[in-house]
Order: sequence, then C-alpha cells, then structure tokens
Amino acid sequence: MADISQEELDDIYTFAVQLGKDAGKMLLEAAKLRMVDDGEEQKEQQHVQKENAVDLVTETDENVEAFIKSRISERYPSHKFVGEESYSKGASRDYLIDDSPTWCVDPLDGTVNYIHLFPMFCVSIGFIHKSKPLIGVIFAPFLNQFFSSCSGRGAWLNETQRLPLVRNPVPPMPARAPSGCVFSCEWGKDRKDHPDGNMHRKIESFVNMAAEVGGRSGRGGMVHGVRCLGSATLDLAYIAMGSFDIWWEGGCWEWDVAAGVAIVLEAGGLVTTANPPEDHLNAPIEEVRLGSRLYLAIRPAGPSPTETGRQTQ
Ligand code: IPD
Repeated sequence: MADISQEELDDIYTFAVQLGKDAGKMLLEAAKLRMVDDGEEQKEQQHVQKENAVDLVTETDENVEAFIKSRISERYPSHKFVGEESYSKGASRDYLIDDSPTWCVDPLDGTVNYIHLFPMFCVSIGFIHKSKPLIGVIFAPFLNQFFSSCSGRGAWLNETQRLPLVRNPVPPMPARAPSGCVFSCEWGKDRKDHPDGNMHRKIESFVNMAAEVGGRSGRGGMVHGVRCLGSATLDLAYIAMGSFDIWWEGGCWEWDVAAGVAIVLEAGGLVTTANPPEDHLNAPIEEVRLGSRLYLAIRPAGPSPTETGRQTQ
C-alpha cells in the first residue's frame, strides 16, 4: 500500500480520538456497575481464565473490543484489525503486524486492575503502517487521563497539554542515569518461572540496575523508586509524560505496546527491544518490527520534537 499522507493521517487520528473516548466511557460504565452501591443491585461480572490464573478476560474486554472492531470496519474496511481478544480466540500468527495499515487494540489493558477496581486500567488503540506505530490513543477513564499522539502532530495529555509534562534536560540513559529516577517494570503473566529462572533474573537485574545507577552517577543518590502498575500501556504513557524515567517488560504483546510506543516516540522518548541492562539502546524501534516480547523505554529528555503540533478540541 502507498504511503499515507499527513492529511489522511490527521483524519484517522480524529476518528481514533473519538473512538478512544467512546470506548473509555464503556469501560467506566462497566466498572461503575461493579462498585458496591448501597440500595442498588450490584452486577457481578464474571472473569474467565485464559492461559493461567492471572491471564484473565472479562465480558467488558470482549464487549469493548467488539465495539471498537465494528466501528473501525465500518469506517476503514480495508484496514487490518489486531485485537487482544480476537487473537485469544484463535487467530493465527499471520494475524499479527505486517506492512498493512493496521489497528492494534487492547480494549482493556490492566484487566486484573479492572477486576480489583484499582484505577490503572485503560483502553489502548494504536494505528500502525509499514510496521511503524503512527497514532496512539490511551484513555484511563477512572483517572480521567486521555493520552494521544499522531505522527508529526505531537503527543498530548487530555488534548491540551503537550507531552512530556515533566521537563528534565538529561535523558536517563541507564549508564549515566541521574539519581532520583523512577523505574517501572511489570511481572507480566508468566508464572511458570522459578526463582533462578529467566524472568526472575531479568526483573532482578533491572531492579539492581535501578538501585545502582544513582551511586554510579557520582551524585551519591539512589533512584527514587521502582513501580509495577499492572498496565504496560499506562507505563508507556507515564514514560511519555516524563513521570517514569525507564520502563522495561519482557513478555508483552503488540496490543500492550502499540499505542504507547507511538505516544512515547512522538513525545521524543526512546523505545528499544532489548534486555536490560547490557544491550539496551542498540536497536531503535523505528528499525524493529513490533513483535518482540521485550521492550525498554526511556523518557523524553526535553520538549517534544514536533514543533507544529495541533490541539484538538
Ligand atoms: C497485561 C498488562 C500487564 C503486563 C502484561 C499485559 P492485560 O495486559 O499490561 O501489566 O504485564 O504483559 O499482557 O491482560 O491486562 O490486557
């Protein structure tokens, strides 16, 4: 397929923003039904186990994905759709990212948080062409935080505040990260690992790197903290915002990261597909197809590189 012009991309972005808002409202309404409310009958929503006891799907994941998929196929029938729940229901490997214009959607990222009503859950809609994430829309309705980006137009919080919000002139490259960074990582869903296993070692090496870099920087400090939010998508949104300095996960799928990677890149951050800490920053995402299970993201050092952004209403 031919390249997509900026004008076409702008139209797709406007559509994606409205879609994200509508899908986020569905999440919020569904979450409210699960809250204890005196005098009201509470709707108990079942969740179903997928691969294991922490890999869960609710009716809401499925309803929101069906809604997003049908809106996209009405408006862009020739575009490919990759969604977490459609994939779980048995789509083949071919179903994942290639060069076609592709929508990559997680209808509810942070399903465990949603089940426990911990507010770190969101809808995540990415648009990818020729394997490049070009548009990202992430809406966390409980937090009322709406992140969006369109290649060439900037990255935004709630459509008015340009990302990054947190200004810091020094990018936190792990080897010379300033003290006072906040690191984030996720446990993912794989529980097959044992204490000496790969996942444990990776998490440990990442946490050790976080603990050590402050000392190595010669400023006598330590990192400010390590966070595990339970939503890879929101981790990336907070990297774009500048709140988190470095994020790493070994085990995500395309739909966990597509929108977040688009937003981080447009905000001027970096994303690589690498293990911490040895080989990070060797392979910028622009040269790598989404499809890796490993991602390391680093917050923007300064203002967004896109000077000619627009603010949608
Ligand atoms: C999961 C969350 C979690 C991450 C997993 C994801 P889901 O997505 O983002 O934080 O560690 O890798 O699969 O199942 O809640 O959509």
